[in-house]
Amino acid sequence: MADHGVPVLRWADTPEGPVLALLDQTRLPAEEAELMCSGADDLVAAIRALSVRGAPLLGVAGGYGVALAAARGHDVAEAADRLASARPTAVNLAAGVRRVEGAYRTAVDGGAGTERAAAVALAEARALHEEDAEASTRMARLGHGLLGELVSRRPMRLLTHCNTGILVSGGRGTAFAVVADVHAAGELDRLWVDETRPLLQGARLTAYEATREGMRFSVLADGAAGSLFAAGQVDAVLIGADRIAADGSVANKVGSYPLAVLARHHGVPFVVVAPVTTVDLETKRGGDIVVEQRPAQEVTHVFAPVSAGKSPYHPESRGERDDGIAVAPAGADAYNPAFDVTPPELVTAVVTERGVISPVTSETVAGLCSPSRTT
Ligand code: MRU
Repeated sequence: MADHGVPVLRWADTPEGPVLALLDQTRLPAEEAELMCSGADDLVAAIRALSVRGAPLLGVAGGYGVALAAARGHDVAEAADRLASARPTAVNLAAGVRRVEGAYRTAVDGGAGTERAAAVALAEARALHEEDAEASTRMARLGHGLLGELVSRRPMRLLTHCNTGILVSGGRGTAFAVVADVHAAGELDRLWVDETRPLLQGARLTAYEATREGMRFSVLADGAAGSLFAAGQVDAVLIGADRIAADGSVANKVGSYPLAVLARHHGVPFVVVAPVTTVDLETKRGGDIVVEQRPAQEVTHVFAPVSAGKSPYHPESRGERDDGIAVAPAGADAYNPAFDVTPPELVTAVVTERGVISPVTSETVAGLCSPSRTT
């Protein structure tokens, strides 16, 4: 794995108190700059602006956000509520927040003073971070093994959407971690990288990660995927997930569902890679998943060149673009869901750290989450 000069996320003690330092993903690939969060308000703004993003990392960041509130003597319950609802779709965010809040609360209820309870919260956030890293290593290995069975061509041509590597995880990531494993084994011909409109997580972030890994890759406009399938140039599709419902429906970055339809039409495996923390048995069906709607300006404008020290987003704007190049007439309406939902029958397999399920059904999803199932 390429080593980043700037960690994706780190806890730091400063003379002014602890901070959560984030690699500001809105500035990539132009520069690797840190964004300092000294409380839940900063972190909520960073989450909404996508300075920190991707389902597993949102859970880890949310957990640290609760620890930060505790360490700074802020109202932990209020901070946790704000953090848990900063973005609605990735279930990992609320799960990470509630897990660390629960540890803090148990310590307080057990008679710990606020300082001791804050230390417990930080230890829990660190444990979550560590577990996520371990999960990504296991998913990479299991996903690579699965592709070995599903794909006969060597080396393989894999297609991915959005960004799913070290920028979204405490470790190596989800789908991209599998690609990295395939690449390390000398079995990757080319990674097809969907640009992932409107915020270009593919062109900006996956291409950045693929460059660092030394992979052969090509960025394509999202709409070009169809002709790539038709030309027989895709051996498998690998994506991550923001939430997997009890029926096996998969919410992921908008544009994932059309890829699943294309993959089915062309007989290409469509594989989802996600930690078990992304499965939400409380969400019964795909239609119950709340899909975040983002500002119209993300569609009507494209990124302005990012200059050093200036993000195309400002955390204070809560996700509203404050620059960018207008590509639609002023006042144009836009449809901008951040995610879409792929029905389970279009998903060949879900790879988790606990194992692979295929077919993806209510029964296999429940089995994955059963307490008797171990890694
Ligand atoms: O809006 P984003 O950039 O947070 O969306 C991220 C994705 O859709 C990822 O594919 C997803 O979180 C799964 S991989 C970690």
